[in-house]
Amino acid sequence: MIKHDSIRAVRWQDDHLDLLDQRLLPQQQKLLSCTTAQETADAIRNMVVRGAPAIGITAAYGVVLAAIQHQKKSAEAWQAAMHAEIGTLSASRPTAVNLSWALKRMQRSMETITGDPVPALLAEAHTILEEDIVANRRMGELGAELIEEGSGVLTHCNTGSLATGGYGTALGVIRTAYAQGKICQVFADETRPWLQGARLTAWELVQDGIPVQLNTDSAAAWLMKQGKVQWVIVGADRIAANGDTANKIGTYNLAVTAKYHGVKVMVVAPTSTIDMAISSGEEIPIETRPDSELLEWNGQRIAAEGANAWNPVFDVTPIDLIDVIVTDKGMFGKSQVQKTTNGMDGGLG
Ligand code: MRU
Repeated sequence: MIKHDSIRAVRWQDDHLDLLDQRLLPQQQKLLSCTTAQETADAIRNMVVRGAPAIGITAAYGVVLAAIQHQKKSAEAWQAAMHAEIGTLSASRPTAVNLSWALKRMQRSMETITGDPVPALLAEAHTILEEDIVANRRMGELGAELIEEGSGVLTHCNTGSLATGGYGTALGVIRTAYAQGKICQVFADETRPWLQGARLTAWELVQDGIPVQLNTDSAAAWLMKQGKVQWVIVGADRIAANGDTANKIGTYNLAVTAKYHGVKVMVVAPTSTIDMAISSGEEIPIETRPDSELLEWNGQRIAAEGANAWNPVFDVTPIDLIDVIVTDKGMFGKSQVQKTTNGMDGGLG
């Protein structure tokens, strides 16, 4: 493995899938083994594994597990069972389009298989994972080109090896730029309520020898006011054809705040995160998770009894607030995205 890149969260082992249980990090590093598609869907829904590309990769392996589970069935019964299992995997989380992207790819693979489907589906899932790492490395190089020496960068949520096949999207750019000596300080929002920044990004960067300073989400504006941040660098769960970007709740706040302070905003995502079927962010389904994620901590009530809560876990940043979208196929600003959606060459997709 290359420098500053030692973590892998999704691993196929002979006949089952091992997931690094991200609910337990950083206190415990434990693997959770999935042997069925249902267990895999539950792991995605319950945040054992999270992050758009990692969800897609995990679901692809879930299809392999389904194929193994049902391999003794007749061809017709196998097809019906696979269809149902893919439906279950697909319903596990709504916002990250990488999930349906990976499942469609596995379905296409199923249609062309002759003979034993398991080795062919496993090969396809491995390819999805490996391609994701290649895409992340490419985006790391592209995004790092934009960062000037001595920059402070602020990131939100976790977009690293834990959220992808490996290396990361926004965190991949940060890894590459840090290795090139361009970054003087990485700042990470703690990322309420799930603390992906405090628990996961901080852990991942410390593991890989990249110093990181945490701040509360609400400190971001004040940090920018001190002139310490040159780039906000974030990932994405779904990018509409016009470049509007769904990402972890709080990304929109950051983009609005960045605009006010003259800080640039970079979105980093593989093309598997782009949904050309929807024209704008208004059509992106936004996941709302249980109130208890806000009202309780470790099963203990922390909010006043009688209060309820609203817990959307993603928001949409309009393309107007984004300086550049870095993908594995190139980098796009607002003007190029608009040309694409007007049917011209280049741009997203
Ligand atoms: O709820 P999560 O932890 O799955 O949300 C993850 C994010 O919002 C990430 O920023 C996004 O998936 C990109 S990960 C490379």
